[in-house]
Parts: sequence; structure tokens; C-alpha cells
Amino acid sequence: MEFAILKEAMARVPGPVVVVTMVDGTERRFGFTASSFVSVSLEPPLILVCLGKEASTHPAFQAANTFMVNVLAEGQEEVARRFSTSGVDRFAASDMMPCELGLPGLPDAVARVACSMHRIVDAGDHSILIGQVESVYVGNRSPLVYANRLFSRVESPALARDAR
Ligand SMILES: Cc1cc2nc3c(=O)[nH]c(=O)nc-3n(C[C@H](O)[C@H](O)[C@H](O)COP(=O)(O)O)c2cc1C
Repeated sequence: MEFAILKEAMARVPGPVVVVTMVDGTERRFGFTASSFVSVSLEPPLILVCLGKEASTHPAFQAANTFMVNVLAEGQEEVARRFSTSGVDRFAASDMMPCELGLPGLPDAVARVACSMHRIVDAGDHSILIGQVESVYVGNRSPLVYANRLFSRVESPALARDAR
């Protein structure tokens, strides 16, 4: 099996765009953009996100007791790009505020899901971070979507109606 064909197949699968954040014991903040966010279980409430083992943030998240999933809204492409760019201060724009559990959150996110670390599962070149959901915020914005290697938006009459 060739990696390239699997990558092409997966590129066509639309995914959410989230920024996952945490704070370490010295108050240093870490975050990365991800599209591998899914719900796992309702009882107990569990979610997961996959993080590459080569990522600069991997050691910090491996040691995390809590983490936040910020679900990005349409118009937040710049945030997604910043939190996926190497070697920059991803928090320099000061758009992240202490939110649920004191974790860095975007005030105008579509949703925020604050978690305690339930388990970290070793999975090839990624680690699966499984979070137990402790607190959830839901806004009324329309979500950003990633498909065909492009940021996109969903037509959502219900959300548009609610936002009026
Ligand atoms: C739309 C999008 C989705 C991404 N999804 C993931 C993901 O699910 N898991 C992951 O480990 N990296 C993902 N990345 C890459 C990371 O954001 C980041 O670039 C990578 O961890 C390398 O960062 P580093 O400079 O901290 O090493 C994604 C990037 C983009 C732009």
C-alpha cells in the first residue's frame, strides 16, 4: 500500500478545524491545530484528538493533566494557520483567554471542550489523546471545515437562522 493514495483519500474526507491547548506547571502555554477531533463516548463523556509524535508540542501534551479543544469558526483560518506554523509564538496575537478549567480558549469559538486526560494511546506515528469532558461551551457561530486541503464553510440554514 502506498502512503500517497491513503493521503489522497483522507484529504477528501471533510474534518473540523480545532486548536488544542494546554498549560504546563510553569504557566507556559502550548497549542496545535488539528482536524482529527471526534467524539468517542457519551457515558463517560470522552473525545479524542491525534497528535503526531514528531510535533514540538508532543512532549508537553504527553505530560498534560488537562487540555482544551477550541472548535474554530468560519473566518478563523488565520488562527488555524498560526497554530500549525513551526517556530512562531502561536499565542502572540493574545486572542486566547483563560476559559474553562483555566485553559487557553478562544472567546468566539464555535465550541470549547475542556478535558482531563483520560488516556494516551500509542498509535503508529501519532498519539491518541483521549479526554474526559469536564466542561463544554457552545456558541452560535458556523464551523470552519477542512476538505481537499482547503479551509471551507458549511451552509447551515439552522445556524444562520439562530444567528439572526
Ligand atoms: C487543518 C490542519 C489540520 C491538522 N491536523 C492535525 C492533526 O489532527 N494532528 C496533528 O498532529 N497535526 C495536525 N496538523 C499539523 C499541526 O497543526 C502542526 O503543524 C504540527 O503539529 C507540527 O507542528 P510543530 O511545529 O509544533 O512541530 C494540522 C494542520 C492543519 C493546518
